[in-house]
Amino acid sequence: MPQPQPDAVAADRLTIHNLLRRDLSASFKEDVRAGLTARPKKLFPKYFYDELGSQLFEAICLLPEYYLTRAENEILARYADEIVSAVEGQNVTLLEMGSGSASKTRRIIEALIRRQNDLLYTPIDISASALETSSRVLLQSYPELRIEAYASDYVAGLNALKTQDRPCRTLALFLGSNIGNFDAAEAVEFLRAVRGVLRAGDALLLGADLKKNPQALEEAYDDALGVTAAFNLNQLARINRELDADFNPRAFRHHASYNEETGRVEVYIISLRNQMVRVPALELELRFDEGERIHTENSYKYDLEGLTNLAEETGFERARTWMDARKQFSSNLFLATGER
Ligand code: AVI
Repeated sequence: MPQPQPDAVAADRLTIHNLLRRDLSASFKEDVRAGLTARPKKLFPKYFYDELGSQLFEAICLLPEYYLTRAENEILARYADEIVSAVEGQNVTLLEMGSGSASKTRRIIEALIRRQNDLLYTPIDISASALETSSRVLLQSYPELRIEAYASDYVAGLNALKTQDRPCRTLALFLGSNIGNFDAAEAVEFLRAVRGVLRAGDALLLGADLKKNPQALEEAYDDALGVTAAFNLNQLARINRELDADFNPRAFRHHASYNEETGRVEVYIISLRNQMVRVPALELELRFDEGERIHTENSYKYDLEGLTNLAEETGFERARTWMDARKQFSSNLFLATGER
């Protein structure tokens, strides 16, 4: 008998809801205008991830200095069974915010499939193409899997999920230190939104990078090959591509430094000289002084006390924490408590 094609098999197990605003380029324009006319100037980290930026980030994850991805992979490879066993309930559904290529998620999916016959996986990701590709690959690997995906920002995706009644336990994932790119108020707002779609007893596995010596942190964000510099300066190249601007990326440099007081790595683009830049699509002419900085990203580092407080402030309890052998990175099981 002819075997069904993998894509046909996948089709009836995959639903993708596209909640993306069609006018993404309008918000890019508005945000670039707001950021580059602000004092001090800034750009928003969500715009790192165009096609080139996403590929550069994948390359960052392979760098010797960027220990985060390897450390989290080590934790998930070693403890996935223990992690899923810490969630009570016979049948668990899996939710993931910012799933991207979903490569680390496989460990959790496999651990859940070892415990139950089938699994519903609900990824939310801003990139519709990454969602579609990763979903099809996962469905081909795991016949037990059904995927209901949301191409959406986190807020809209979580809002859509709020109206759904999920009969079984939910394990939510927010991996890869993405929480670190939120400031304190944003992290609280985001975790409360996640808590809003969970019931008491459900859980969130939260990846968080740990505070450590400044040199290791600064090297992780300023690698010898200059990949992180390219990732950062690609924001200027993207403005050239999409808004017809005339930034000369060679006239700027990348800078990353750890601020021990705020516990964050701060990332900047610095102008190497006095210069003017035109952005015709915004009818803007911008002046940059030599040494002037554009703030592009913060990456917050946590300690266990900070994670406990964050859990308690947002309707969770930090029930378990797993670390890699060198104690560089943490995977935290936040259990949803009675109060929201
Ligand atoms: C996506 N995010 C968790 C990365 C981080 O470590 O903050 C982004 C990044 N920026 C420079 N290198 C990596």
